[in-house]
Amino acid sequence: MRKTFIAGNWKMYKTPAEARALAEELKSALKGCKHKVLIAPSFTALDAVSSVVKGSNILLGAQNMSNVEEGAHTGETSVLMLKAIGVDVVILGHSERRHVYGETNEVINQKVKLALSHGLEVILCIGETLEEREAGRAEEVVKKQTEAGLKGVSEDQLKDVTIAYEPVWAIGTGKTATPEDADQIHQVTRDTVKNIYSADAAEAMVIQYGGSVKPENAAQLMSMDNIDGALVGGASLKVDLFLPIAEYDK
Ligand code: 13P
Repeated sequence: MRKTFIAGNWKMYKTPAEARALAEELKSALKGCKHKVLIAPSFTALDAVSSVVKGSNILLGAQNMSNVEEGAHTGETSVLMLKAIGVDVVILGHSERRHVYGETNEVINQKVKLALSHGLEVILCIGETLEEREAGRAEEVVKKQTEAGLKGVSEDQLKDVTIAYEPVWAIGTGKTATPEDADQIHQVTRDTVKNIYSADAAEAMVIQYGGSVKPENAAQLMSMDNIDGALVGGASLKVDLFLPIAEYDK
């Protein structure tokens, strides 16, 4: 039985003081939550949020990291820095990183391997653009992103990997994939994991859905067989929206 995993990606919102206040509220609101829960503030708020969630049931996530361990890389943040600040999980390959900042499958794979080798958990994001979906290429794209993202990752390391399917056209747009369409892509993703690794690895893989997840659609999406949680953007910035999603009862 896979554990439901709900993650809030705060993107480029909240100053450290605002992030601390939101984290404090969530900490008390989510005290009895039976799911795995993560919040991922921006880099500048990680330290403040780390001190709030330390010792609680909320995991601390980062939204990105450098593909190299350390060095002359102006403006980058290293895996060592994330570890030192108490980060548990790093979100990698988010569509905004892929499509706005030009991250390739190869660079994302380097990041995945580096994070895992340092004991961080990874949420590997995959998802097709509208153009790719309309061209009937959604399955091919997510299969390729999954294979490329996990290249060189051992089956043993896979226990620290979550995959998040986020169709690019559904992010921040208010459009959501239907539960059936999302479940279909999740199945393709699970089959891809099975082909690379094993039936056991595929069965154990937690696959989140992301893209305009709201309290109104969360239960329907997560009730699908292959949808094991949610990666939430906009709705994770408000306690009254994030709470009903995080408390969903499968
Ligand atoms: P929204 O929930 O705002 O559509 O964002 C989804 C997302 O990109 C989470 O990583």
